[in-house]
Order: sequence, then structure tokens, then C-alpha cells
Amino acid sequence: MGTQRLEGKIALVTGGSRGIGRAIAQRLAQDGAVVALTYARDEAAAHDIVERIRKDGGQAFALHAPLGRRGDAAALWSGFDAQIRHHAPEPVVDIIVNNAGIGRSADLASLTEDGFDEVFAVNVRAPFFIVQEGLKRLRDAGRIINISSGAAHLAMPEAIAYGATKSALDNFTRNLAKELGPRGITANSVAPGIIDTDVNAGWLRGNPEAEAHAASVAALGRVGRPEDVADVVAFLASDDARWVTGKVIDATGGSGL
Ligand SMILES: NC(=O)c1ccc[n+]([C@@H]2O[C@H](COP(=O)([O-])OP(=O)(O)OC[C@H]3O[C@@H](n4cnc5c(N)ncnc54)[C@H](OP(=O)(O)O)[C@@H]3O)[C@@H](O)[C@H]2O)c1
Repeated sequence: MGTQRLEGKIALVTGGSRGIGRAIAQRLAQDGAVVALTYARDEAAAHDIVERIRKDGGQAFALHAPLGRRGDAAALWSGFDAQIRHHAPEPVVDIIVNNAGIGRSADLASLTEDGFDEVFAVNVRAPFFIVQEGLKRLRDAGRIINISSGAAHLAMPEAIAYGATKSALDNFTRNLAKELGPRGITANSVAPGIIDTDVNAGWLRGNPEAEAHAASVAALGRVGRPEDVADVVAFLASDDARWVTGKVIDATGGSGL
């Protein structure tokens, strides 16, 4: 195991079964946290990462917690409370990572009301109520880390509602920082650029032209990897980031400079 700088801490990572969330779950566990990772559909992927973490000497468990419908946050936390008892005498949490998100939406002409509601329900409403419900459990000096996107500050008309959800999330982050600062709790967003995850697999993987284009967007000249984001999250989760709050931390490899 790594440095163990999160020894004694408990973390929740939504959408921790695949992609960026999976790398975050793995990294926080490596740093010594007990990690509750959630998934919606892919149970096998969730169990695979839990097994991997345990094999490496870390502690993790998976929670089935579909997001995007009313009552989702309450259901998530009741599942959390039931399982965390195996790791802690009371249901407490130190680090909440709102990572699960829908990474696409349609353009202005074709986005339906249902599509609009869905992307906002998963990307904005769920994090809001996960934090609201989680506050009873979140210990002082805790961490809230919202996975935003570089798209929050760009015009991307082909996914018009997606960027709007991430802008809303960033504003939520700032409000949380102000509200919870007196308890030593920090709240920050991390904004990735193009990362090689399943959400981009269709157009990116196995397409050298698309990959070259995606790489050229970043000043650092390659497509991002989930670990590039997870390492930033690990910093924000650590005591080293105790004086950083209310910010959007760019993790785009210098995209759009
Ligand atoms: N990839 C990028 O280029 C990129 C760039 C900027 C920002 N981001 C943001 O980073 C976050 C993670 O993206 P990713 O690319 O890692 O996604 P991903 O590979 O598609 O993984 C998504 C994860 O979230 C879970 N999830 C998806 N929909 C859910 C729902 N309705 N309820 C509960 N869990 C759900 C999935 O669980 P199941 O597999 O069980 O469904 C999975 O664990 C998102 O917030 C995304 O907007 C990604």
C-alpha cells in the first residue's frame, strides 16, 4: 500500500465502479481510506474493483445506488449505513466524491424534456441531495469533491445541457465551501478534459485520427487517463489541501489555453 495519508478516513465515491470513479476509489483506498463505491448497472465491474482493492491490502465495498430518481440519495445513504458498520462504530464519512454523471446530452434542437431532466437529475440533483443527506454523517474537516468538467466553461452546443449541469455543480461547490467552511470542511470541483473512459470509447478508441485530435486539444499533448484525475482528487482529499476550498481545479492537461 501507499503512503496511508488517509488512514482512519472513510470515503464515498459515486460511480466508483468504472472510469474516473474507479481510479479515484483505487487511489483513495491506496492512501488508506475505507472506500464505499457505488454503481448503477454494472455489478460485475463494481465487484471487480472491490476485489482488486482488497487484494492490494485496501478496504472497500460496493453499493448498488442508481441515481437520477427521487429518493436516490436517501437510499444510497441507508445502504451505506448498513455496510459501514463493519468498518466503523457509527455511520460516518470523511470524503464525499460526487463522480457519477451522464457524460452526454443532445443539441438544442433535439434535447427532449425527459433527456434534460435526466442529465440534471443525475449530474446536479443527486450530488445536491447526497450532500444534504450526507451532512449528518460528514465529520468536521471533511472533504466534498465534485467531478465537474472543462465543458462547464466552454460552448459545446452538441451537448448543450451537459455543460450547464457542470456549471451548476461548480456553483454548488462554491456555496458548500462557504456554508461548511466553519466546520473545516472543504468543497472543491475537479474539471477533467477528455479522458479515455467508456463514455468516449465509441469515438476515441481504435480511431487514431480521433485520438490525435483529442490529444492535440491538451497542451500536454495526450488524451487524459482516469489516474490523472484521481491523483488530483487524492490531493484535495488529503490534509495537504486543507487551505483550498470553493475552487474548480482544472485537470484537463491544459486544454483550451
Ligand atoms: N470521461 C471524460 O472525458 C470526462 C470529462 C469530463 C468530466 N467527466 C465526468 O467524470 C465523471 C465520470 O465520468 P466517466 O467518463 O468515468 O464515466 P463512465 O466511465 O461512464 O463511468 C460512470 C460511472 O458512473 C456510474 N453511473 C452512471 N450513471 C449512473 C446513474 N444514473 N446512477 C448511478 N451511477 C451511475 C457508472 O455505474 P454503472 O456502470 O453501474 O452504470 C460508472 O461507475 C462524470 O461526472 C463525467 O461527467 C468525464
